[in-house]
Amino acid sequence: MAERRPRVWVAQPLFDDTVAQLAAYCDVDATTAITAHDSAALAARLAGVDGALVTLNERIGAAEIAAARSLKVIANVGVGYNNLDIAALGAAGIIATNTPDVLTETTADLGFALLMAAARRIVESDRWLRDGHWGQWSFTTMLGADLHGSTLGIVGMGRIGQAIARRGHHGFGMTVLYHNRTRLPADVEQAAGARYAGFEELLGRVDHLLLALPYSAQNHHLIDAAALARMKPSATLVNIARGGLVDELALVDALAHGRLAAAALDVYENEPDVRPELRALRNIVLTPHIGSASLATRRAMVQRAVDNLLAGLGLGAHAGRPANVVNAGLLAGTAAGVGDAGSRIDINKR
Ligand code: GLV
Repeated sequence: MAERRPRVWVAQPLFDDTVAQLAAYCDVDATTAITAHDSAALAARLAGVDGALVTLNERIGAAEIAAARSLKVIANVGVGYNNLDIAALGAAGIIATNTPDVLTETTADLGFALLMAAARRIVESDRWLRDGHWGQWSFTTMLGADLHGSTLGIVGMGRIGQAIARRGHHGFGMTVLYHNRTRLPADVEQAAGARYAGFEELLGRVDHLLLALPYSAQNHHLIDAAALARMKPSATLVNIARGGLVDELALVDALAHGRLAAAALDVYENEPDVRPELRALRNIVLTPHIGSASLATRRAMVQRAVDNLLAGLGLGAHAGRPANVVNAGLLAGTAAGVGDAGSRIDINKR
């Protein structure tokens, strides 16, 4: 009797031509319209398949995999994977993968674009012009903060953090300070043009602060009212990592009362909902989680996820060797690993 073809589920519409590669090896159930899958829907979908291609909108933990007897691989299209309970997946022997590297430079570009937009009030200026205010122009209209010659602080110095540091130091002549759970080797610091600083010291010294670290329960609201109070009132805050890192109500309060000059967010505590208090502020730039959203990079991410999925299922050119397993040390039957719980600021794997 012929062996059964593996079954895979694709949770959201992605690039059809890339996803079509799966059909050479598997029976594919691809979602064709953007869908909010609740926990029960995820559980039902995962119950019948060997592998799944998912995005950050699919939150998968013990409940969602409880009936997934044949599930072997979950390939996340994204570098961050806080939507996955990797311990629960590991305990069930399910491989989880992500898509690092291919999005590093694109995401760093967006981080820098948001920094420039917030510090130089570009979006606010655009709105002001369109609203017909140019007749009130004066020499002090839309005064912002310089990037060149200023001090940039980066929290989370993984691949994306380093790519932002290079832009700041080599491109804009900024002094770059970084904080990371682990200090980087001297040659990596030198290539990035960045110096290590303690978290509290960094908060007080920088003109611009950019968050590029992975989210975990330990660093929830890392930027809270107390952290914001340590920053210069003239400073800019940019978050391209995950919304849970910033206490949004504390940020609103600081921006509304002149205790922080400007901010830019690409990520939110409760996506896709954006608080009305944030929307009402003029000194914040808001983008809808588009860090990696260039055509070339989004295509590359889907390709990487497809490769990971096939390899994890023992299929294709890299059968059995998925490149980006994020729960290797947690997989049932392997030595236990991972122990970031002691620190508020995790190692940055982005
Ligand atoms: C996007 O946020 C990603 O983690 O890839």
